[in-house]
Amino acid sequence: MSHQWWRDAVVYQVYPRSFADSDGDGMGDLPGITERLPYLRDLGVDALWLSPFYLSPQHDAGYDVADYCDVDPRFGTLADADALIARAHELGLKVLVDIVPNHSSNEHELFQRALAAAPGSPERDMYIYRDGRGENGELPPNNWTSIFHGDAWTRVTEADGSLGQWYLHIFDTTQPDWNWENPAVHELFAGVLRFWLDRGADGFRVDVAHGMAKPAGLPDATVNSAGLIDIPEGEVPIYFDNDGVVEIYQEWRPILDEYDGDRMMVLEAWIPEHRLPQYIGTDRAHQSFNFGFLQARWGVDTMRRAIEKPLELADAVDSPTTWVLSNHDVIRHATRYGFAPEHRFGEGLSREETPDAELGLRRARAATLLMLALPGAAYLYQGEELGLPEVADIPDELREDPAHTRAGVPGRDGCRVPIPWVHDAPAYGFSPTGASWLPQPESFGAVAADIQEGVDGSTLEMYRTALHLRRELRLGEHADGVAFVEDAPEGVLALLHGGVLVAVNTTDADVPLAELPGAAGLGVIAASGPVDADVIPAETAVWLREI
Ligand code: GLC
Repeated sequence: MSHQWWRDAVVYQVYPRSFADSDGDGMGDLPGITERLPYLRDLGVDALWLSPFYLSPQHDAGYDVADYCDVDPRFGTLADADALIARAHELGLKVLVDIVPNHSSNEHELFQRALAAAPGSPERDMYIYRDGRGENGELPPNNWTSIFHGDAWTRVTEADGSLGQWYLHIFDTTQPDWNWENPAVHELFAGVLRFWLDRGADGFRVDVAHGMAKPAGLPDATVNSAGLIDIPEGEVPIYFDNDGVVEIYQEWRPILDEYDGDRMMVLEAWIPEHRLPQYIGTDRAHQSFNFGFLQARWGVDTMRRAIEKPLELADAVDSPTTWVLSNHDVIRHATRYGFAPEHRFGEGLSREETPDAELGLRRARAATLLMLALPGAAYLYQGEELGLPEVADIPDELREDPAHTRAGVPGRDGCRVPIPWVHDAPAYGFSPTGASWLPQPESFGAVAADIQEGVDGSTLEMYRTALHLRRELRLGEHADGVAFVEDAPEGVLALLHGGVLVAVNTTDADVPLAELPGAAGLGVIAASGPVDADVIPAETAVWLREI
């Protein structure tokens, strides 16, 4: 079999709202992304994944899709999407689009039709409508709660003006769940896949990939979850990870396989890692995010486990694992690592919380360097290559995350602040007019891409070096596996892979290199912080190799 590009690819997540704004309305757009594609090529990534840019009222930043086959005017036109894909391909970059099959927007034409139709009609059957409980149907059909807090059901007013049925929404009220028991929903999504494959998309990131299939009879839940991420064993809500979901990927895989060029899908499934392998295989999905690495606390044992276990699971399904540290749903890793170890990952950062920014960035850079040495695919989130922190100081009235509106949690806007490109330009180069849908903090000036470019030791140059070496040394490939160094000094995580000795000093004191078995005669080819010849500095990662 020829080499399948996704197996060891580095994929860069572009969040269209916040990447680059070409028309000056303060909201990023597709032409803005196209202009910046050479930056991604130079960074050394293989592909980009675009978060949703489809027609949407933006109640969940585009994850509420009103038309899966059209571009929202805020982001451009279908012709702009075509131009983006074509330019990316010219530059040797693959393009993944985000598919959101668990729910649509309530503004989707089919939901509007369902709303207008009578209970029991085929229109209603596209979504999950039920009668309420209680004498007059005044209680929701079951006790499920929304991931964004509050009830997972909303009652509708029927055509005759009476209070009527309820519809299910695992997320916001404006995001009704599709009824995947209905073959028409299957047909609809098969069409959506083909639409983007025909336009040249190289594959899909599948949103809430553990959703879709609901348990028969929609019984009450014994554990109800609020929050999307970090769901421990035994606490996965009843509406996730049901067996029927896998059948959907078994249906989709042959569609992708009809096309040339190794089209692929990567699943977003926040479920315990031992459940993931059942989703992966040559007759189902290609890969899934491995969130265990993102969730691993700083430390030798925790991080080692978060590497060993997925490697073992990946071997079993013959599909390399993936690595990810940040995305648009979690507190940016440069900030996360600056917190006490027990801190949560999601729901944002409040103004009162004061992580150690310097320590956070130091550890984040070390964790990234560790990640980029590992076999498998790696997913980066825009701005992490600049070392961007989570932004806490966003006025409440500008926050858009539905979880903030519904429950008052800070929410995820803090990791979605527009990218600083140019230190002394309006909106730091994000937008020609200086407009920005979320305010950028003053601290963004000092970390703008132009300030870091070509500067030895900057976070951007560390990413570039690591990505280029990773490609040159083929570190993404599995070949000879990963061997942990068992007798590394206390507090140092060390492993050998692809001829590189990778060592992370997780302690707050320098460790003499001479104490690291196997390091004699090797030289440092990449480092997450300044190194001198004799030590691995505190909270720093190094790559060592014969030079
Ligand atoms: C996924 C997305 C998240 C969105 C949710 C509902 O988890 O990553 O941003 O809010 O799905 O679509």
